[in-house]
Parts: sequence; structure tokens; C-alpha cells
Amino acid sequence: AQRKRIDAALAPFLLSLETLQEVKNKMRTELEYGLKRETQASASVKMLPTYVCGTPDGTEKGKFLALDLGGTNFRVLLVKIRSGRRRSVQMYNKIFAIPLEIMQGTGEELFDHIVQCIADFLEYMGIKGARLPLGFTFSFPCRQASIDKGTLVGWTKGFKATDCEGEDVVDMLREAIRRRNEFDLDIVAVVNDTVGTMMTCGYEDPNCEIGLIAGTGSNVCYMEDMKNIEIVEGNEGKMCINTEWGGFGDNGCIDNIRTKYDKEVDEGSLNPGKQSDRLALLQVRRILQQLGLDSTCEDSIIVKEVCGAVSKRAAQLCGAGLAAIVEKKRENQGVEHLQITVGVDGTLYKLHPHFSRVLRETVKELAPQCDVTFMLSEDGSGKGAALITAVAKRLHNVGQ
Ligand code: BG6
Repeated sequence: AQRKRIDAALAPFLLSLETLQEVKNKMRTELEYGLKRETQASASVKMLPTYVCGTPDGTEKGKFLALDLGGTNFRVLLVKIRSGRRRSVQMYNKIFAIPLEIMQGTGEELFDHIVQCIADFLEYMGIKGARLPLGFTFSFPCRQASIDKGTLVGWTKGFKATDCEGEDVVDMLREAIRRRNEFDLDIVAVVNDTVGTMMTCGYEDPNCEIGLIAGTGSNVCYMEDMKNIEIVEGNEGKMCINTEWGGFGDNGCIDNIRTKYDKEVDEGSLNPGKQSDRLALLQVRRILQQLGLDSTCEDSIIVKEVCGAVSKRAAQLCGAGLAAIVEKKRENQGVEHLQITVGVDGTLYKLHPHFSRVLRETVKELAPQCDVTFMLSEDGSGKGAALITAVAKRLHNVGQ
């Protein structure tokens, strides 16, 4: 009888090939909606232009600061890039904690804290006087009008600092630096972590035109043809689009695969009706730990089975979304077979025993004409942010 109950409870988590195909098609529809001026407002996948128009070509060079905010860790980095025959990247970084009361306090407190961490880092590295160019990896949905402007659309992943939504995060950082009045920095680029990841991997593999994060949150970016991006002027070349696919389904388009558990997690989250946030994940983790403490062996097996079903579904859904993206890129290029590299980061992808395999298998099954190589980003997205900053700085100086 118990077996029956378990099977019945887990049945909604099993996704057939047809359902996954349907998810892929719906993702494709949302991607197209997000790119078109008329349908953009109602698309659940926001398709945000990033103003990053190329992948690294090895000519990037200089000394940069990078911030990396939005994953498990907040990092400040110093990145030294050499070009030419002795092409190399050297990185020094320090991890800082962001206490919960800062994540959910006021915007001023959050940005003052960030600047405090930068000050500590500059001190630690002995470079307090230097006015270095800075790339800001800020992994939340931002509407950009240029590479150094990003208006926060809305917080995700457990952050909820007040007075930030609708504001330019670069301005907020500049103001916090001014308030401290101790050092000056040249903030050149605001970068999503998916974009940073794509650029980090793109430095090693020029075929890397997609960035994927599966960690605290899940998101994808990819190089799209300018002619397909209606909301940005110009038809030449490519621009990286931050899909913000964590919002997929917020308009109800995949309600048919939502289980009652999804609804419960959503209703208990910081932003009901939107994505699923880190707090929910932490709560689940805590509950599992509590179960583990005083549960029987049999209970533990059931918990393991439930976790297996939930994570398999997550990997399959991620794979269905990615299949939609690689197929779109294949069609953009008008080729029978596409060879493409996806740069990947995130604790879920890196540490979960089966997630990466199920993801790969699903993409292969749903996009058989695409030969997808997954490249793990070993260096985080700070390196990519520094590379973007190097290019932006060079272009800016040329324009002056
Ligand atoms: C890191 C990147 O390596 O991975 C971050 O540098 C990114 O930019 C993070 O946000 C995602 O992983 P997680 O699991 O920490 O959310």
C-alpha cells in the first residue's frame, strides 16, 4: 500500500518524451515572444539585451576589478589579462558573506556593504590607490540600455533589498562609492552571470555561444542575430541575450505540468507567482536534514526516491529549454547540423550526481541535429566580466 502511495505521489513528476517536446516548443514560443516588440510585454521569458556583441578574441588585456554577486558566494576579484603569444589570465579573489538582514534590508545598506567588501579587498591586495576599471557581475534580471547601465527588473534568489527595483544598479554602486569617499572606481560593465560564464568559457573555446547556470537559480544566455532582436536598433552582427528563463511559465503557459508541490513551494516563497527562490531551497534542505536526524532507514530511502524524481524532472526541464535554444541557433545559421559549446556553471550542475547527465541526455534526445559540448566554467563568471570590461574599455577609448 505504501508503494502505491509513493508511486501515486511521484507520478506527476514523470515527464514523457511528448511532454518534454511540448515544453521545448513552448519555450521556443516564449523566446520568440520575448524578442518581438509587440509580444515582449506578455512573454514570461524576458529576453534581455546585454549589449555584449562578441565573444573574446584573445586581444583583451589589462588589470581589472570584478564583482560577482548573485550566486552562493559574493566575490571580489582582481583579474590580470595578458594578450598575444603569452596570453593568460591571472586571478585573485576573496569571498565575502552577505548576511540575510543585508540581503533583505535597504538598498543603501546592501550597496554600502558591497563597497565595504571592495574596500577590504583593495586593502588586502595593497591596491587602495588604484582607479581600476570594474566589471560588475550582477545576476538578477536587469533591463540594459548600454553595457554600463542596468535597471533591476525584480529581485530573485532570496534577495529583497528595498528601493532597488526600477533603479540603475550601476548608479547605486557609484553612489555607495561616493558615500564612502575613500576610493574611486571606473564601473565599465554590468554583466549577468550567464554572460560572464559564456565569456569565461569563450576565452578557451570560440565556439562557446551559450552560457548556462544551474545553481541557486537557473538561467541561460546565448548569442542571437541582431536582426532577430526587434527591441534593439540595428541588423548587423550578434548580441548576447539574457533569456531570464527562470520566469518561464509565470504567465501560466506550462501550468499543465505544475504539481501541487510546486504550488506549495511557490506560495511559501518570497515572490509567490515568480520563479522559486533560494529561501525555498534552503527550507527544503533544512526539512530534509531534520528528517534525516530522526527518521528510519525506510524513510530515508523514500526521501532519496523523492529527491531523485524531483531532480530528474529539473534536469529534464532544463534540457528541454536548452534544446529549444540550440535548435533556434541551428535554424538561425541555416545548417543541417550545429556544433556548439555551452559554458556551464552552478553548484547543481557541478555537485549533483545525476543532473548533468540527465541534462545532456535530454538535449541529445530533443535536439538530435545539434552536437552540444558542455564546458564547465572552472573560473566563475568574474573572469568573463573582466574580459567584457576589457573590450568595453577598448571600444570606449577608441570612440573618444
Ligand atoms: C559561480 C559564478 O561560479 O557560479 C557566479 O561565478 C554564479 O556568477 C554561480 O552566479 C552560480 O552558482 P551557484 O550554485 O553558486 O548559484
